[in-house]
Amino acid sequence: MWLHRSCGGVGRKSLESQWELLPSKDRPMPDPKNNVTPTEALTGSLRDYREPHGPDLLGRVDRFFRWQDLRRQHHLWPYSRSTDHAPGTFCAARDDTGARFAGINFGSQDYLSLGSHPAIKEAAKAAIDEYGVHSAGAPAFLGSTKYSLALERMIADFLGMQHTVLYPTGWAAGFGVIRGLVRPSDHVVIDALAHSCLQEGAAAATRNVHSHRHLDVDSARRQLTRIRAHDTENAILVVTESLFSMDSDTPDIAALQDLCREFKATLVVDAAHDLGNLGDDGRGHLGLQQMLGRVDIVMGSFSKTFASNGGFVACNSPAVREYLKFYCSPQMFSNALAPAQAATVLKAFDIVTSSEGCALRAQLIANIRYLRTTLDQAGFEVLGEPSAIVPVLMHAEALARLVARRLPTLGLVANLVEYPAVAKGAARFRFQVMAKHSRKDIDEAVDRLRIAYHEAQITFRASQGVGATTTAGATASAGD
Ligand SMILES: Cc1ncc(COP(=O)(O)O)c(C=O)c1O
Repeated sequence: MWLHRSCGGVGRKSLESQWELLPSKDRPMPDPKNNVTPTEALTGSLRDYREPHGPDLLGRVDRFFRWQDLRRQHHLWPYSRSTDHAPGTFCAARDDTGARFAGINFGSQDYLSLGSHPAIKEAAKAAIDEYGVHSAGAPAFLGSTKYSLALERMIADFLGMQHTVLYPTGWAAGFGVIRGLVRPSDHVVIDALAHSCLQEGAAAATRNVHSHRHLDVDSARRQLTRIRAHDTENAILVVTESLFSMDSDTPDIAALQDLCREFKATLVVDAAHDLGNLGDDGRGHLGLQQMLGRVDIVMGSFSKTFASNGGFVACNSPAVREYLKFYCSPQMFSNALAPAQAATVLKAFDIVTSSEGCALRAQLIANIRYLRTTLDQAGFEVLGEPSAIVPVLMHAEALARLVARRLPTLGLVANLVEYPAVAKGAARFRFQVMAKHSRKDIDEAVDRLRIAYHEAQITFRASQGVGATTTAGATASAGD
């Protein structure tokens, strides 16, 4: 029954009609065709304001706000949106001015559609009845519960590892595992496109951070060779992801682990995006590459597939487990997962490992393949390999922003990713697919993207001057 009530108990029809009934004054979303757009709102990036200078610590951030607000005024700031209900395949939301919009939702990360699963909601409610809403302490100080202890065991077994340490978020797990283990004289060799929690953990731990080319094992080898040529005394941590969240691609994990053995280094793999939802058994690329239990350290997040905040680090040594518990600040000095969160993730793992989980993964991968094919047929450039993340390349930031401005009024919710989160000129929409999306959702979403792209391209071309060339991405056919 819950399958048909993906919007937190509010059916799609009623949400849509609620939206349609809104008086037009409550719909400040403009008709973008009639909007004259200043160049400044189409250019620049968050990177321009990352290192403000001057003695006025608070005042110096004004420049960022002025640029952001210009974008906001022209409906070109598609961030900080809020939803009006539980994550589902349809979403009624507000932008950060409060303007309402609604549409088919490819912007939430709830890959197996577990966010409103009745059994999970029941498990969370039962945990609240039993424990209240608060863990009221760090894991070192009475913050653990029977749910978090059972979850630690469950994750270790799921991964074929010996031990697990839980964290309040996936970000804290990624940052924490690096900062907890690596010391200033050590080295980190990290994939150039690794997530911010890993990059920031590395930067906080040591100045010896060496990027290797994305997915490139030879490039990692060159870094390790160079380091070991002059330093055999200190440790090296090699950092990668099993599925990269902006490109939907994956490294050769076995080759990286072998490389680590050869150079007396340690490998950590962030499995945030594929664990639970990819592969017949849900073990993600670790399973698909026969690497279960064979990677030094695995970390992950619950926020993509397991319907909760939280993250983990799994390892094979009790000493590493205990060290992380007492030398890793986001573990030691941060409140533990709430009992309801731990109970939620535990129940999500129950489902992930059940035949229902298997069926949800089959639905998800069928949706992913269908979306990728449909986008491709519409002329769009889709990156990476099939996964719950489907990156659709727009190239130019200005064009991508114009497309993003049009999507809400067409009834499509999808997240824009632009520089510096991805390379300059490689702006993209990151569609996040759910098991419960229907073929109709996918068909309509691609159609709406096509319309938005076509219209945006006209404005973009005009802004570039007559005859200017535009993106190499979805060209003629996407606009036809
Ligand atoms: C690869 C990767 N690692 C870690 C995280 C952080 O996870 P969380 O959202 O649970 O903090 C994310 C979140 O986007 C991610 O993409």
